[in-house]
Amino acid sequence: MKKTIILISVFLIIQAIEIAQLDKDEVDVTKLNALFGTNYQGKIYSGYLSAKDDGKVQFHYLFYPSIDSAIEKPLILWLLGGPGCSSMIAAFTESGPFTFIEESIEFEENPHTWTTFANMLYIESPISVGYSYGPDGTQSDESTAEYNLNALIDFFVKFPNFKNQKFYIGGESYAGIYVPTLIQEIINYNEQPINPEVLRINIQGMIIGNGCTDPSECTQLGYLFPRHRLDFYGRHGFISEETYKKIIDNTEKCSFSDKQECQALAYEALVQIAGPKYDFLINQYNVYGKCITNTSEGSKRMQSPLRVSDEERNDSDVPPCVDVKGLYHWFQMKEVRELLNIRDESPKWVACSLNFKNYQINPNGSLYIYPTILKNNIRVLILSGDVDGVVPIAGTLYWIDKLQQQLQLNTIKKWRPWYIPGIVTRQVDKDQNAGNVFDIEGLTFVSFRNAGHEVPAEKRMESKIVLEKFLRQEYL
Ligand SMILES: *[C@@H]1O[C@H](CO)[C@@H](O)[C@H](O)[C@H]1NC(C)=O
Ligand SMILES: *[C@@H]1O[C@H](CO)[C@@H](O)[C@H](O)[C@H]1NC(C)=O
Ligand SMILES: *[C@@H]1O[C@H](CO)[C@@H](O)[C@H](O)[C@H]1NC(C)=O
Repeated sequence: MKKTIILISVFLIIQAIEIAQLDKDEVDVTKLNALFGTNYQGKIYSGYLSAKDDGKVQFHYLFYPSIDSAIEKPLILWLLGGPGCSSMIAAFTESGPFTFIEESIEFEENPHTWTTFANMLYIESPISVGYSYGPDGTQSDESTAEYNLNALIDFFVKFPNFKNQKFYIGGESYAGIYVPTLIQEIINYNEQPINPEVLRINIQGMIIGNGCTDPSECTQLGYLFPRHRLDFYGRHGFISEETYKKIIDNTEKCSFSDKQECQALAYEALVQIAGPKYDFLINQYNVYGKCITNTSEGSKRMQSPLRVSDEERNDSDVPPCVDVKGLYHWFQMKEVRELLNIRDESPKWVACSLNFKNYQINPNGSLYIYPTILKNNIRVLILSGDVDGVVPIAGTLYWIDKLQQQLQLNTIKKWRPWYIPGIVTRQVDKDQNAGNVFDIEGLTFVSFRNAGHEVPAEKRMESKIVLEKFLRQEYL
């Protein structure tokens, strides 16, 4: 009898200790909920991954294991672009369980969170982005891919239960470069794994939203005559017919060209879009959306990313017209840094790092990696918000067509509309057209009607439907 009581009390004590003690990097969700005014029931991990052997490069990660049966669900790593912008934007405005109410510092539950069907990992990369830190110096697409691979391996060492799950990497915008280059690193790593604790990374697929891909999109030479942006604006009635015709006639000649006549033509169009002072007041990330300006968080930058040559770039940590109010409010707070296990070495959190003057953009983009990705049976999902003026649908369709011809990929299912059930929005509605889709060997393209640059932020329900179908290998 006495023994039983002792055993029970020992058991209770152990249980109490377990309740009180958090795993390494585990966030105290009770405290977080109290601070954020949320009611999250799952676990959250936040800490650092070592991105270089010498331990001097530390990338901040945020990890939401899926709420139920995490061990049976796929793992998705999601990266944001820039270069220089933080993946926390994705975690807290796109796919995470709690997101901001627009232009506010209040959280709301995201009924379409991806954590219901996947384990979501967000890494801030490369050095100086968000809370990530490391030595100063030049960075490049190559160094980013290498760091990301190391950080990922460190993640699997820290969370060995997730090593064998189906693994996907996704991202948007400039992550259209980060993701394929990381997958290239993974393919190489799997041939010669170095870390005995991670002998294979179980990469199954990649997801890219409005991503930089072709050299004509987001490279220094590509910006000289941003042919797809000009094409997009022309097709959407932002440029006079006279100018648009000249653009069409001169596109082949002017692509990648700094010839005076080509630059003059690009400026002729730019002035029509943006006004003579380029004071835009147009949200290029969603050309039919609102331009949020002059907030206390510093969203004052109105210079355009339409042409991002150095002399025009007015450095700011806020992409023009974008709402980052909630992120700024919370992620600079001492209490939040403490709860997320942020070290003193980490910089003040900003949405897009200011220290990106020396970043070397690979002039080849990432399209050249796609043949390797497809050959390795890594499935590709390309998302495109069709009113984004920054990495517009025109460029995405251009390079997919180029790739299909180059590799002679068969069309599996032809271009067609896709729908969301009316019942999801309003019972009385019929199915609603949500965009277009087509499938070629190894690659699915999905457009999102009336969505801008950040599809998962603007079209949460639609993104969830598309993602779940992709993971289940079903057609839309
Ligand atoms: C911008 O914000 C400041 C301070 O919040 C305010 O004084 C100013 O009038 C605003 N400017 C415009 C153009 O809205
Ligand atoms: C950059 O922005 C600042 C403040 O908004 C402004 O005073 C300055 O003229 C801008 N510089 C350029 C090169 O546009
Ligand atoms: C870009 O591609 C060219 C041609 O394949 C190659 O010679 C060059 O090294 C590449 N540049 C970089 C930075 O990878």
